Parts: sequence; C-alpha cells; structure tokens
Amino acid sequence: MKIKVTSPGRVNLIGEHTDYNGGYVLPCALNLSINLSFEINNKESFVKTDLGYSMTFNINNPYKKSSIHWENYVFGVIEELKKIKSDLNNFSCDIKSSLPPGAGISSSSALVCGLIKGLSILNNLNLDNSEIINLSRNVEHYYIGLLGGIMDQYTILNAKENKAILLNCNDLKTKYIDINFGNLEILLLDTNIKHNLASTEYNVRVKECKQALKTINEVNNIKYKNLSQVSLEEINGAKNELSLNQFKRAIFVYNENRRVIKSAELIEKNNLSEFGKLMYQSHEGLKNNYEVSCKELDFLVDQTKKIDGVIGARMMGGGFGGCTVNLIKSNEIAEIVSKIKENYNSNFGINLKAIIAKAGSGINVVKI
Ligand code: GLA
Repeated sequence: MKIKVTSPGRVNLIGEHTDYNGGYVLPCALNLSINLSFEINNKESFVKTDLGYSMTFNINNPYKKSSIHWENYVFGVIEELKKIKSDLNNFSCDIKSSLPPGAGISSSSALVCGLIKGLSILNNLNLDNSEIINLSRNVEHYYIGLLGGIMDQYTILNAKENKAILLNCNDLKTKYIDINFGNLEILLLDTNIKHNLASTEYNVRVKECKQALKTINEVNNIKYKNLSQVSLEEINGAKNELSLNQFKRAIFVYNENRRVIKSAELIEKNNLSEFGKLMYQSHEGLKNNYEVSCKELDFLVDQTKKIDGVIGARMMGGGFGGCTVNLIKSNEIAEIVSKIKENYNSNFGINLKAIIAKAGSGINVVKI
C-alpha cells in the first residue's frame, strides 16, 4: 500500500502570537503544500526530499538528536509515535514540496503533521486530529526547542477551502468564516530572510507572557490560565510590578485578540477596508510592543502604505523574517509587486518573492 499525504502551509490573516496565550487567531490553509508519499519498507527507513536531502536509519534504533536540523523533525515524530506503539514499521517517504521553508508559512508544521498522519496510517494507529495536533506540538517543544502554539497544526488539519478559521486557542471553539474577497487577493511577500524560530527570541516572548500573567494574577488576586483572559484594568493595575517589556507584551496580546474578533466580523460584513486598517495596526503592535518584526518586514509594510491598491499589510507568523501578508487589488498586483521588488532589491540587495495565496483545504490522504 502507498499512502500519499498532502499537507498544506498556513496563512494567518490576523492574530499573531496569541495562540500560545490562549487567544484568538484567524488563519486559513495555503494552496501550497508538502506532499509525502509513504510505503512500508522491510529492512530500513529512508526519507528523501526534493531539496536534495535524504536520511537512512533503522526505526528501531534508540533516539539520537541529529546535528542536521530537519532530521530532528523526523526523529521527533518517530519518538512521539513510539510512545503509542513501540514496534513501528520501517518505511520509505518521498517528500516533494511547493512550500518555501523558513518563510513563516509553516512548512515545518506541514512536514510534521504530514509525517504523523502518514506514519499513523502505515502503523494502524487511528489518531484523530486533536491527537495529531498534540503530538506535533510535542515534536516542536521537545525535539526542536520551539515553544510554539497550536495555530499552525490546527489549521493544517482542519482547514476548508475558501474559509478562514476563527479559532479560540483556549477552548478550541471554531467558527469558519467565508473568504470571498471579490476583486482583492491575499498576497504574500517573502523577505527571503530565513529563520529557524527556535533560534530567535520567540521562546523569550513565550516566557515574558507567562511571567506577565503570573504577576497580573498575583497583583489582582486572580487565577487566569492564560494572558488572553486578562482585562485592560488588570494589566494596568499590575503596571508597577511588571517590567516594561512584560507590560508591552500584555498590552499587545490584549489588543491583538480584540482585533481578531473585530476582523472576523468585518470580513463577514465584507467591510474589507476596515479589516485592512486592523492589519496595519496589528503590524504596528508586533513591531513596537511585541518586538518581533525586522527592518525588511517593516520596509515591505511601509512601502504598501504609499500605494492605494493595497488595503492592508502586516508581518505574518512568528516574525524575525518570513513573509508579510497583504490584501491587494487583483488588477494592480503585477505593477505593485514589480515596484516593491525593485525598491526592496535596491535597499537590501535581496530578491523578493511574491506568492498569491488562496485559502485551500486541510490535510488530505489518498491510499493507493
Ligand atoms: C509560529 C508558531 C505559531 C504562532 C505564530 C505566531 O508560526 O508556530 O504557533 O505562535 O508563530 O502567531
């Protein structure tokens, strides 16, 4: 039996760094994906990618961290699955991808979710989506060292074509929102500043938020489980006890959550110009209060402010590089992209990559 898994990337319309704070996000799946083709192999396991990497190992060997970053995703998945079934089958996996890695469109979660899905079927594990999400998060936390949330994995597993997901990351309540932007498109502009989030300040932000929550709870004599539950009065009440950075992070999370809820309403009412304004506000917050942007992302967002055909723009994903997400008039894309590309190149000497994103469907499996 051959199993083919299509595991998409993720676009987040708004709601950044809120997922691990138990807040709201508004993502959709991208119509680009990692495609994995699995088969049982008797002797040893073999994973090969179209980027020219390959690895050979015996699945029964004890876990050993690899010095090659991407191999740890594969080993992490296998270790997590072994906790459920100790004698997994050796396998071969051929990976082909249309998702650029390190661009903030969740290529790593697409890889991990795709591997878990395929291997769980090859080994008759019958995992449901929530189990796959948890295992996938464990892989990031324990084998990669990134203390990420669940937005990417949830989206990859549950997305529907032409829909965004308004997801409450605290109780996982979900509302699908129709994406029908008429004469507008979602355009991703890739800075080509590649990042491995585990080596950025991402984890520092996770810890700052945890510490801010602890202090806000203590000062206000409350017991919230996550930072997204805290009110503005409670944050201000704890201002003197919070460090300036913790205060800024808490204010950002408070505001970003409200922007997500408002954005979902605006998109439902087709008021996209107001949604665009919230995108710009989100970027300002990520830049100034959350401090996860970088000069290339800021440059791209600033460029769009001078152009009428762009309705909204902001950095997307963990930050420190990767893409901006833009809402842009379809018939002006070519002209706008060529102008921004030229300016970006003359400022940074880096080529800009543009991707027109469609809201695609979630993970898909075909058995042959
Ligand atoms: C990365 C993480 C997500 C989320 C975003 C920021 O993509 O994997 O869990 O925290 O950053 O919104």
